[in-house]
Amino acid sequence: MDKNEFRHLINISDVLSDGDTSLWDELYSRFRDIIAHQRIYSDALRGSVMASLFFEPSTRTKFSFQSAMLRLGGSVFGFESADATSVKKGESLADTIRMNASYSDIIVMRHPVAGAPLAASLYSEVPIVNAGDGGRQHPTQTLTDLATLATVRGKIGDFTIGLCGDLKYGRTVHSLVYALSNFPGIKYVFISPNSLSMPDNVLGFMREHNLPFSQAKSIDDALPELDVLYMTRAQAERMSGEDSKYSDGYILTAKKLERAKKDLTILHPLPRVNEITPDVDADPRAKYFEQAKYGVFIRMSLLLTLARQPHESARAVDVGGCSCKNEKCITHTELYLPKILTPDGRCAYCDE
Ligand code: CP
Repeated sequence: MDKNEFRHLINISDVLSDGDTSLWDELYSRFRDIIAHQRIYSDALRGSVMASLFFEPSTRTKFSFQSAMLRLGGSVFGFESADATSVKKGESLADTIRMNASYSDIIVMRHPVAGAPLAASLYSEVPIVNAGDGGRQHPTQTLTDLATLATVRGKIGDFTIGLCGDLKYGRTVHSLVYALSNFPGIKYVFISPNSLSMPDNVLGFMREHNLPFSQAKSIDDALPELDVLYMTRAQAERMSGEDSKYSDGYILTAKKLERAKKDLTILHPLPRVNEITPDVDADPRAKYFEQAKYGVFIRMSLLLTLARQPHESARAVDVGGCSCKNEKCITHTELYLPKILTPDGRCAYCDE
């Protein structure tokens, strides 16, 4: 992507695609500078306003974005629950976005339905940042993960990463795999119960790009070969019928870590439920709290890129009647959306 075209962050490919890491390099370089010289940035976004629209609960993403904007001298408004807004009266997503775009300079939104941020970007005169859409993607978590890997390990690449847990509904692992595909020398081990394995669209992407991956049935099987272990919780809120309790094979304990490499990096987007036992926290290889902290600085870096952009009239959008078959796609609740396909013919809202 040309830097000048970077206006909305909907998919991680908006920052990293086709092996081009230049936008990421710029974000990471500024991340380092912000950490080193925080005071210099304290007025950088004075006068700018961020709308924080979280239609789903959040601790890290919501508050780290708010902290990031405040640390840059900007202001924030938003809601605690969409039920406290006119969404409750039946207002469409398009109209909610039109309104909030006219009150702000950037919109950060999380939504339980896949494709909501892409839909929002069609009606917004300000940049839209996807803070997680259903089980699909979570690109700013991935920026946090990459910043952590680069900082802790010195570079991104030349490692074997195990992704463990709910790989089906865990949006962070989808974005992370797409992002890591732009860096060299990475092998992937997918560790999950059969019912929660990596979705076909991600596996298809891996095969299409010749990314080396294997599947393992438990952490114990994979752990000795791993350089990075990315743990995830079971996304119980997205499951219908599947068992949301992991068996022992997907739970990391201090005892299991005895068989791991000395320089293993353990990440988790958090929140955790029971998949990492508290006795792991004191292990120097556990980096998940550091990872959450870095989320503020990489989001500051992102806000500096996007929140200063001029407002632009929203694109003219055909009134749609889109016919995606995926019931978890935003086109099922916002019936006016135009049909948009990816270059390979999938629904661009939900990737199905
Ligand atoms: N990692 C993450 O997205 O956490 P929250 O759900 O608390 O924002």
